Amino acid sequence: MKNEKIEQVANQLKKDQKKIDHLRDLENLKVKYLGKKGLITELNSEIKNVSNENKKEFGMAVNELRNSFHQFYEEKKNFFEEAILSEKLAQDAIDISLPAVCVSAGAPNILEKLIEEVEEVFLSMGYDVVDGPEIEQDKYNFEMLNIPKGHPARDAQDTFYIEGEEILLRSQTSPVQVRTMLEGKGEVPIRMICPGKTYRRDDDDATHSHQFMQIEGLLVDKNISLSDLKGTIDVVVKRLFGNDVETRFRPSYYQFTEPSVEVDISCFNCKGKGCSICKKTGWITIAGAGIVHPNVLRMSGYDPEKWSGFAFGFGAERMAMLKYDISDLRVFYHTDLREAKIFDREEGLS
Ligand code: DAH
Repeated sequence: MKNEKIEQVANQLKKDQKKIDHLRDLENLKVKYLGKKGLITELNSEIKNVSNENKKEFGMAVNELRNSFHQFYEEKKNFFEEAILSEKLAQDAIDISLPAVCVSAGAPNILEKLIEEVEEVFLSMGYDVVDGPEIEQDKYNFEMLNIPKGHPARDAQDTFYIEGEEILLRSQTSPVQVRTMLEGKGEVPIRMICPGKTYRRDDDDATHSHQFMQIEGLLVDKNISLSDLKGTIDVVVKRLFGNDVETRFRPSYYQFTEPSVEVDISCFNCKGKGCSICKKTGWITIAGAGIVHPNVLRMSGYDPEKWSGFAFGFGAERMAMLKYDISDLRVFYHTDLREAKIFDREEGLS
């Protein structure tokens, strides 16, 4: 036997359910039936007034009604939510028939690319790639590299002075040798390279620039000799220019190395026969290098009786010009995408 009141509420609910066509209506329906003063809630609170014999039946009927409400509510809710979602997806859909917007692609700076190649080779040999300041102190750029004030070698490295005579734009990356040793506090081994910008007072043309890049290198350990230096440079040269390219040392002079050498490589273009790239000599100079001068080691806190090292400085533009057959240095600093793309493509084809 069903209770009349329950019957009424159930009928009312049936009618109301038919009118629901929005999530909002559904929530209102919930309030109407299950809210504080909701119709089902009220039936529930009437259970206590029902006579004992009918209580169980009444309670079960109310429960059934509530359960069927919940079922209806959940089903409808899912339905509405799915509808909202698919409408949103439809709105967000990408119109693949639209013509594409042309995004112009960049190209790596050719000089940076060469530097990255060199870094890779040295990293594979256990070197660190370090950085140093471009605004440098005279002390590091010259004095601690064994080039005291008034030394004639300074003439060839005239640069831009920032404040008085002590603060300048570094004329070479060699001061990073000193900085690295000072930081190393007498510990070995030191194995570092430092690619970076350098500056000199120069008029810009196809082969000169007031700003250029060097790749400095320093190794400090026990019993380091010129043959270690040569072997190391040979690995780099072969990786960059090809396995048949040879390395040779010519005696030279730098204040911070003793002995000092110029590093030549056999011309990869004519294989030593003589061409315009090697100026008919069969050899091309790519770096200065040598065994670190005892004074430099000592000034930077390394006992020259105990430790020795080699150092080198590659001219980055020169290497890139050789590798990519570029005749004008200014290409590197134009930042003209068309030029960068040409080299990128050529590299990709080779
Ligand atoms: N710093 C030198 C220059 O700018 C190049 C150089 C030569 C660097 C010999 C070195 C080196 O580390 O050992 O001309």
